[in-house]
Amino acid sequence: MWDFPLFPEQASTVAGRVDSLYYFLVGLTAFFSILIGAAVAFFAIKYRRGNKADRSNPFGESALLEVIWMGVPLVIVLTIFFWGTSVFFTVVRPPKQAEDVYVTGKQWMWKIQHLSGHREINELHVPVGQPIKLIMTSQDVIHSFYVPAFRVKQDVLPGRYTQMWFEATKPGRYHLFCAEYCGTQHSGMVGSVVAMEQADYEAWLRGGSGTAGQPMASAGEQIFMQQGCTSCHMDNDAGRAPLLKGLYGKPVALADGGSMVADEQYIRESILRPMAHVVAGYDPVMPVYQGRIGEEDLQQLVAYIKSLGTSEAAQVGE
Ligand code: CUA
Repeated sequence: MWDFPLFPEQASTVAGRVDSLYYFLVGLTAFFSILIGAAVAFFAIKYRRGNKADRSNPFGESALLEVIWMGVPLVIVLTIFFWGTSVFFTVVRPPKQAEDVYVTGKQWMWKIQHLSGHREINELHVPVGQPIKLIMTSQDVIHSFYVPAFRVKQDVLPGRYTQMWFEATKPGRYHLFCAEYCGTQHSGMVGSVVAMEQADYEAWLRGGSGTAGQPMASAGEQIFMQQGCTSCHMDNDAGRAPLLKGLYGKPVALADGGSMVADEQYIRESILRPMAHVVAGYDPVMPVYQGRIGEEDLQQLVAYIKSLGTSEAAQVGE
């Protein structure tokens, strides 16, 4: 047979659920299109000019009919709403045990950093059966990280983190596309996600084609030292700056009376523009790092601060 599949392979835990919802919507739309089209044709023929049909148009009222034509659509749209919402929450909430991978888009390539220190370009190696959480940003314009076989797609924006997660279910090499027009070579901004059995993945980690560097958290710790962050962010409460140990995932009380959860985006923002969210009880004395630190160093800093401890509340996505 000729190989022209209507749908990409289903290779992630959510792919089947996304497709089921999609089939349901297509089926529903087709059913009503045909039903209404047939009714239009039927009445057009029945009441065509010259045909002897009853046109007396008697006045009538039916409570039952009204209940049906309000009730049926109500049930249908509520079904779509709850079904869609349930798939949506699954897709946007990374599971607790998800492994972080940092992604940077730039014209026109994907740069990947693993927590282990492995770096890749236009390729992402992952083990099957392990949820992977991507923390993504762009160095220039808007891109979009799209893996059709996993049924996941998320815009990648300059100046902030967006996130996405997936769990591959079968080994293989899957297309990775940029799905947001980003300039001349947009169509060339493609790559692969390579899903591997756990043993193969470990072999790849040991000897594979990825560049093994320092683990991200320890690279981040080095930057933390070099930048002199330790002079204020000390290991205890005595410092002039908030304690970072156990910060990730905690709600933080702010000087303006508000509160935020310390997720990756909060940590990023607080390094680049410390004045944006001043923590209650501290003076706004931290220097601005916007423009003084590259995206990949920033990712290492974030990974380091996350490695200082997490709390349970961290796991709800944006
Ligand atoms: Cu990057 Cu299109």
